[in-house]
Amino acid sequence: MRKKGILITGAAGEIGDSLIRGLMDDGESSIVTLDLKPLAQEYKGKTTHIQGDLMDHALLSRLVSEYEIGTIFHLAALLSTRAEFTPEMAHQVNVEGTLGLLKLASEQSEWRGEPVLFMFPSSIAAYGMPNLQVKAQFSRVREWEWNYPTTMYGCNKLYCEMLGIYFSQHYRQLAAERPITLDFRGLRFPGLVSAFTLPSGGTSDYGPEMLHAAAKGEPYACFVREDTCIPFMAMPDAVKSLRMLARAPAANLTRRVYNVTSFSLSAAEFRDQVCQYFPDARITFKPDIKRQGIVDSWPAGLNDNDARRDWGWKPDFDLERAFGEYLVPNITNRYRSE
Ligand code: SER
Repeated sequence: MRKKGILITGAAGEIGDSLIRGLMDDGESSIVTLDLKPLAQEYKGKTTHIQGDLMDHALLSRLVSEYEIGTIFHLAALLSTRAEFTPEMAHQVNVEGTLGLLKLASEQSEWRGEPVLFMFPSSIAAYGMPNLQVKAQFSRVREWEWNYPTTMYGCNKLYCEMLGIYFSQHYRQLAAERPITLDFRGLRFPGLVSAFTLPSGGTSDYGPEMLHAAAKGEPYACFVREDTCIPFMAMPDAVKSLRMLARAPAANLTRRVYNVTSFSLSAAEFRDQVCQYFPDARITFKPDIKRQGIVDSWPAGLNDNDARRDWGWKPDFDLERAFGEYLVPNITNRYRSE
């Protein structure tokens, strides 16, 4: 008998850390985590952790021989800045890694006679605004607008969304009888800010970096201009949206990929928020013209009306609550105890 389990790839990353906690709060006891890195000490023994490579087919085969996977949270990815330095490798991990997992999930769905739920975090990077005038004019983009990413990471995310939809709706469409296949659901996240972890290799990182540096009493030179505006969301809301969409009845969904967001603000406003709580923060602006170009291509805000309508999405943390109730108290605590 195979053990039943939920699989989380990229589990040692930023979203993984909070998602594991969230699923454990839900009473989920059979979590299989996969990452190149070990999991944080606090999760030792609480999940079955496999330290290994998503691209290792033998490892994936072994995994499905031991576990009946009903849900996959596929979080593993190389983020936008990192991917620009190694685009082919980003393609391998972000696209080929996803393709392998989609195939595995399809086979598992057929074998179980029930769709495997495939949860996929996508990103504002799937959008590409051609210039700042257009960005100012279309400040709350809908899912189908401006799908012209300018980064390898954005291209990878957009294409993998399409692959997920293809596997859900059209895979083996010419077979005499189309087999049961997976149930793909994706979320386009804004920049995420966690109190407990720092992102690595992303381009929205200036927000969290600014805040964590201030809490540690370190100076920070922000790599985008003061007027740069993108949407952000507190990590608990990202996890909440993943759990909500995973639980939503399929009949309520009118799309397979949804925008979700919380608050939009400029880098100067982000600094002002940080300084409100850490008045001694030493934040300067030293734009990196190339990373600036990437953030300029991302929309200033997302329209998440469809998520609100179809599955009742609503963030818990607006800007004030995100800083006042989640970020600042937890970050202060964290660095005080280090
Ligand atoms: N946070 C991601 C990045 O900066 C975008 O979703 O790459």
